[in-house]
Amino acid sequence: MRAWTVQSNGAPSSRTLTLTTVPTPASPPTGSNILIKVSHAALNPVDLHLLNVVPTWLPFRRSATPGLDFAGEVVAVGPWVPADSRIAPGAHVAGALGVAQIALGTGSLAEYVVVPAHLVALQPAGVGAAAAAGLLGVAGQTATLMLRAAGVKAGMRVLVNGASGGVGSLVVQVAKAKGAAVVAVCSAANADMVKGLGADEAVDYVARDPVEEYLAQRFDTQPFDFIFDAAGSQAIYRRSPAFLKKEGRFISIVGGKSQGVVPFVRNKLLPVFLGGTPRPFSLLGLAPNGNSAKDVAKWVDDGLLKQAPIDQEYAMEDAVQALEKLASKRAKGKIVVRVAA
Ligand SMILES: NC(=O)c1ccc[n+]([C@@H]2O[C@H](COP(=O)([O-])OP(=O)(O)OC[C@H]3O[C@@H](n4cnc5c(N)ncnc54)[C@H](OP(=O)(O)O)[C@@H]3O)[C@@H](O)[C@H]2O)c1
Repeated sequence: MRAWTVQSNGAPSSRTLTLTTVPTPASPPTGSNILIKVSHAALNPVDLHLLNVVPTWLPFRRSATPGLDFAGEVVAVGPWVPADSRIAPGAHVAGALGVAQIALGTGSLAEYVVVPAHLVALQPAGVGAAAAAGLLGVAGQTATLMLRAAGVKAGMRVLVNGASGGVGSLVVQVAKAKGAAVVAVCSAANADMVKGLGADEAVDYVARDPVEEYLAQRFDTQPFDFIFDAAGSQAIYRRSPAFLKKEGRFISIVGGKSQGVVPFVRNKLLPVFLGGTPRPFSLLGLAPNGNSAKDVAKWVDDGLLKQAPIDQEYAMEDAVQALEKLASKRAKGKIVVRVAA
């Protein structure tokens, strides 16, 4: 089968990645695994982190295939998949690969993937495979994590930073559909898009630089119940007491290596009298799982998620350009690769 493989660590390029022929996984798969013919793979910033940092000299990472999100058709199931399961040959499924596959580098930028059946959900009716890959993969599953942590209800006010990206564009839609007033932080170029997704107001963080000072002036009398940060702004968190309710919460998904551990430790542990910020800070991390993928599918079925914003769909041969666009951090919604010819 055709698959992209990592040749060396670094930024995406024709030197670090090659489209090549690798053995097709055995069929039927073992245990409770399923074999999927991949239709589309969606990309995530974590793909770039893995490309950069996981050494290619590790024995199990030689010629690793990148990509976590997938949508496709089940072509065979392992002997332990129950005979009455809806995850059967012919079913159209989507989801994100789990930690084991991430470690082993058997990613979704390949014509076939083997996935434990419990990691997938059926593609919702009326949603194409490209959209399903973008929605039910890492971005959608992370959005479920954020909204579950918050418990957004009608009448609440929420701020979404990074609102036009893969995760933010879904958080905006679902928070609005749950009845919250939504303010979206994005660049001017994406203001109409986020309003189209349901944002009541868009704040241009470039024109309003430093945006945390603008937020402090604009929303001091209308503070938020939750701030969802999908862009990673320590400055917004530090200034948040001016526009986040005392009982409100700052929920971030950006931390670790990209931001440094010092802000995280300070945000979580530093007492207010030593300069800590007097607002609760949560940093969430996703372990991909089928239940979250099913929750996203239910959002679609229930009409909470109406759009799957897709920045661009690339041909399999153009996956390097797709990863380069992802690395530019300018994607509007998801970047998707059409794997099947
Ligand atoms: N913790 C977890 O489990 C987890 C899971 C998923 C993602 N993440 C992380 O969450 C972040 C977002 O992921 P994603 O998939 O949504 O990324 P993405 O789709 O690549 O995000 C691109 C978007 O970021 C916006 N952006 C860039 N700089 C910004 C800034 N300074 N302020 C506001 N918006 C900005 C861009 O909008 P403009 O062009 O309008 O600026 C663009 O629309 C990434 O850092 C990712 O690694 C973490």
